[in-house]
Amino acid sequence: MNILAIETSCDETAVSVVRDGRTILSNPVISQIDIHRIYGGVVPEIASRKHIECIGALYGQALQDAGLTLQEIGAIAVTFAPGLIGALLVGVNFAKGLALCAKKPLIPTHHIRSHVAANYLAYPELAPPFVALIASGGHSHIVQVEDYTTYRILGQTRDDAAGEAFDKVARVLGLPYPGGAPVDALAQQGNPNAISFPQVSFADAPYDFSFSGVKTAVINFVHTAEQKGEPTAKADVSASFNEAVAQTLCSKLLLAARETGAKQVVLAGGVGANSRLRTLLQEQCSGKYALFIPPLSLCGDNAAMVGAQGYYEFLAGHCSPLSLNAYATMPINYCFGQHL
Ligand code: KG4
Ligand code: ZN
Repeated sequence: MNILAIETSCDETAVSVVRDGRTILSNPVISQIDIHRIYGGVVPEIASRKHIECIGALYGQALQDAGLTLQEIGAIAVTFAPGLIGALLVGVNFAKGLALCAKKPLIPTHHIRSHVAANYLAYPELAPPFVALIASGGHSHIVQVEDYTTYRILGQTRDDAAGEAFDKVARVLGLPYPGGAPVDALAQQGNPNAISFPQVSFADAPYDFSFSGVKTAVINFVHTAEQKGEPTAKADVSASFNEAVAQTLCSKLLLAARETGAKQVVLAGGVGANSRLRTLLQEQCSGKYALFIPPLSLCGDNAAMVGAQGYYEFLAGHCSPLSLNAYATMPINYCFGQHL
């Protein structure tokens, strides 16, 4: 079955065609990052307006690249939550128009579930159950994926998401938005043991994260150096921060794998592109767990991952009437019958 999938939850407009949840037939993406970078972060109204401008052309491109017509599409999947509400509404409304005019099923698809599903595209052999770390600009979760549409949250961040911490640290270091990739790149030139930044744990919730402490520690370190008139060793700060976050993410994921008896471990989300995190996981899963890390091209936001997850939502019967709404927040373990 060919699914046409739409993603507009943040600052990437994307439309894709995916066959049977596993094969990408087309996957064009238009990123708005260059526009938002001027403001140091995503400006929601600008994001919505750019989605409106781009989505029609991207839809045509996705069908053309796949060599298909709308009539050869079996269903329309769209990110309905979580994300920027105005941005989500653009994709949801466009999807409704397509579903209505082509008389196709409409499949609401959860953005964070889709990040996990990016791995189904890269690894045909991957199937639940597994434990997954999802680390993105807005979310940090450790989940047990029991089947394609059943999730159990083991832990999540109590404050900032991992990507948010990267973006704020980048800003204080004078690096461009979004900050994850520039901090990661600068970290390659620094000493990860130069500064000891905090790695937070909670005795009562071993899989929960907190990144506001490490973020504030970096900000204080940089401001103290500035006040003393000392040069900031930006590469060492980047490397030490990168190390603290990667160690935290990796150790909690491996603890979850050990304690749940998982055989497979999955990484997902934009922060999944982090080179230190990828290396650490490869080292520490070796010989113990089958590790699935998405290719860099599928770590960030795209619509192919929506097509992958949408396929499994469709198989589970999770189609929506045209009254579908968008939601800024929605837990990953939402129950289709209750929430929609
Ligand atoms: O998943 P994503 O594309 O969008 C959301 O759903 O939030 O994640 C974007 C986040 C940003 O915070 C960005 O700074 C971070 O992923 N990121 C990275 C790297 N590349 C992107 N963080 C750490 N290291 C990277 N190499
Ligand atoms: Zn995302």
